[in-house]
Amino acid sequence: MEQVHPPVTPPATPPATPSIQFRDIPEAGIDRALSLAYLVFHESPEDEKRKHHRDLLLDCVRIGAYDGEELVGFLAAFPFTVSVPGGELPCPGLTFVSVAPTHRRRGVLSGMIAEMFAKASADGAPIASLWASEAVIYGRFGFGPGTHGSTVEIDSRRPLALRITPDDRPLRLLDPSEVPDVLGPYYDRTRTGPTGRAGRLARTEAWWREEWMAEKDEEDDELSPPRVVTVVNPAGPSPIAGYAIYRTKTHDDAPGLVRLDDLEADTPAVAAALWRYLAAIDLTGTVRAWGRPQDDPLLLFAADRDQVRVTSDFPALWIRLIDVRAALSARSWAAPVDAVLDVRDDRLPANAGRHRLTASPDGCAYERTDDPADLTLDVRDLAAAYLGGTEITALVRAGLAEEHTPGTATALDAALRTALLPHTVDEF
Ligand SMILES: CC(C)(COP(=O)(O)OP(=O)(O)OC[C@H]1O[C@@H](n2cnc3c(N)ncnc32)[C@H](O)[C@@H]1OP(=O)(O)O)[C@@H](O)C(=O)NCCC(=O)NCCS
Repeated sequence: MEQVHPPVTPPATPPATPSIQFRDIPEAGIDRALSLAYLVFHESPEDEKRKHHRDLLLDCVRIGAYDGEELVGFLAAFPFTVSVPGGELPCPGLTFVSVAPTHRRRGVLSGMIAEMFAKASADGAPIASLWASEAVIYGRFGFGPGTHGSTVEIDSRRPLALRITPDDRPLRLLDPSEVPDVLGPYYDRTRTGPTGRAGRLARTEAWWREEWMAEKDEEDDELSPPRVVTVVNPAGPSPIAGYAIYRTKTHDDAPGLVRLDDLEADTPAVAAALWRYLAAIDLTGTVRAWGRPQDDPLLLFAADRDQVRVTSDFPALWIRLIDVRAALSARSWAAPVDAVLDVRDDRLPANAGRHRLTASPDGCAYERTDDPADLTLDVRDLAAAYLGGTEITALVRAGLAEEHTPGTATALDAALRTALLPHTVDEF
């Protein structure tokens, strides 16, 4: 008989300061919440940006921490859908995390996160996500870096040297109004399916328009509006074989910058054509590609690695497994594995303890057991491994996971493996 599993219900976390109460922020409270966020992030946005944030927050879960009637904490969660190996899952994306400077380190953030976990669980979201402004904050809440990004810089004062021949189909610049219709379906194929990468957010039409095609860059107002170049694919079925989204800025006395925001291509040759185009834009001398996947083929087909350098690597999308069983059952598995995992999870104890994971390309079972553990690890490290971006063997080598039965970590790695590394470039 099929076992019935109760949903993971997070325990109510009593606030560290009893006078603090946690409750939803109504629509009428959004402006007050934004004022708190701007205070803690040291921002004073123009009306247009404030309106944009307000519009974004209308669709979000909004949690407030109140000291009496005073709003002292704010956290929102976008209703995202994120690709996981073999599929996709609802995945709240935490944002605007703010605590009043008068109320720091009293458990306000902890209380808001407990509220958010309870809501996600009630809404049937087995995972949650965020981008961290400080990497030190979120591990304690069970978040692990599920995807990583690399900043790649090309010295484009000379032609880009390549070891492969770029695709010679025509390039075409798109008008921003065409972007959701042309890039949208193309991008969707880069998320799921055999050539998809885990960790990618579904982009709605509004997300394309307001986040990707926003006239002004949020962080650098010297940058041009976004430009979109595509490789035309006259033979169909998709009208394009690849695209790049970028902005530029020039200096009076020095070569300017091309800042690449996103690039996807059907083949290495198409990618080569796009990179060569970006590196050849007149009056510029640097291409800075932010948040590239760590297995970007450019790093192999560039003929001169002094010309194409990785200047930083960073954790991108942090993942929290809110319901470990549901999360593991929802992803695909590349190879068979049968192992008892002992998972530590202080914040959501329903996830903690020993479970037998029996997974294969045909499916996955994850059941509580009294059998001895083959491997012990923290839920944050399981989260880091979940999308295929961190190896369990590396966690063992780092002393973060303990292997009781030799070979378990290697078998888990083979099962968790994905053809392409997980990747996220939608920062929120
Ligand atoms: C970061 C911030 C949200 C923390 O809120 P808070 O209410 O002070 O956090 P809590 O009191 O719940 O702290 C929970 C734990 O995290 C730790 N912590 C929180 N912020 C930390 C930080 N910036 N660096 C190191 N540790 C931090 C606390 O020491 C505490 O540790 P403990 O559980 O071992 O006691 C708040 O300081 C803030 O609003 N900062 C400015 C905005 C910001 O950085 N937001 C995060 C954007 S991703």
